[in-house]
Amino acid sequence: MALNSEQIRQQFPAFEHDDTLVYLDSAATAQVPVPAMEAMNAYYTSYKANVHRGVHAKVDEATNAYERARTTVQQFMNAKKASEILFTKNCTEAINLVAQSWAKHTLQKGDVVLLSIFEHHSNIVPWQQLQNEIGIEIRWWKQLDEEPKLDDVKLVAITGQSNVTGERPDIQTLCRKAQAAGAKVLIDAAQLIAHHAVDVQEIDCDWLAFSGHKLYGPTGIGVLYAKEEVQQQMQPYQGGGGMIVEVHEQDFVPTDGPAKFEAGTPPIAEVIGLSAAIEWLNQFDWNDIEAYEKELSAYAYKKLSTIDQLSIINYQLSIEQGSPTTTQSFVIEGIHPHDLTDILGQKNIHLRAGHHCAQPLHEHLGIPATTRLSLALYNTKEDVDKLCAAIAEAKEILQINR
Ligand code: ALA
Repeated sequence: MALNSEQIRQQFPAFEHDDTLVYLDSAATAQVPVPAMEAMNAYYTSYKANVHRGVHAKVDEATNAYERARTTVQQFMNAKKASEILFTKNCTEAINLVAQSWAKHTLQKGDVVLLSIFEHHSNIVPWQQLQNEIGIEIRWWKQLDEEPKLDDVKLVAITGQSNVTGERPDIQTLCRKAQAAGAKVLIDAAQLIAHHAVDVQEIDCDWLAFSGHKLYGPTGIGVLYAKEEVQQQMQPYQGGGGMIVEVHEQDFVPTDGPAKFEAGTPPIAEVIGLSAAIEWLNQFDWNDIEAYEKELSAYAYKKLSTIDQLSIINYQLSIEQGSPTTTQSFVIEGIHPHDLTDILGQKNIHLRAGHHCAQPLHEHLGIPATTRLSLALYNTKEDVDKLCAAIAEAKEILQINR
């Protein structure tokens, strides 16, 4: 069934609040639908209490909602068990959790971590920190159309979708090959999660991380899927309440399961909000989501391509895939992306400019910065038309056409 973007738009208060808003920055953070806001509001107004602490009825209600949310996330990504879902504050913290709780104790000097050149800083810096701390080696996979050298790799840490070009590496094939070579695999699904069905059993990765706020949920909540076998090899790196069975003057006994990695009061409202956002998304069929976004992305790509002096940043795979994704970055000859994005912003059309926390990719491509368009379910062809008309006006303001 084709999606009705107008009806979808009505479920997002951001567009009611500002009916001229053209929001093309969902790769940075997506807008939030009413049910996710209402779910958080209900927690704050009617059953705010801590979770897993105390025995009063409100604690039970909050704990049940919190753990139900874990099951919602489990089902959403088809994890085998709810206990494989760990809540963090964002995707960055989820990746750091793998680095500190597994890699730091398991990897040794000289062990290789393979990263693609498309990685976001959040999937680069934690490994550089371990390079400094324990001497692991980072190997860059720059040509995604060529086979990566895997024989001595201990961990492949790779994005499911580039936050700059929208590139989608074939993570499932890579997982098979990496595991055959004895490597573990971590997927950074921050950008993929809202645009493509993610089935962790089918991908068969060891970890998969994402943020709630790019999945139509609130900020302050991230998820790490940690397969049961690897979770058992992870040591908690944050200590505190909730992650222990007992604590004495000299030592402590950690608890088992997700709580071991969720020290301190967790982001309860945000977990409940994320769960409601997922339930909201679950009303749509993934085939319909992908068909809608594919058509819109192709429309945007085609329209942008007709603008003089504008080049969309492609990489070999996106050209071969022949199908642009929801994220597209571009440069216009003679115009700095910040100037363009600033003028577009004044017209209430919002995109991101810069290196998008993917500076190694920009350096590799020899481009200091780009302007990035990123689409979501509430965007329409009209948004794209307004963007293209505004780019033409901005070019005139910036006197490119003289
Ligand atoms: N990672 C987010 C982005 O790409 C913030 O914009």
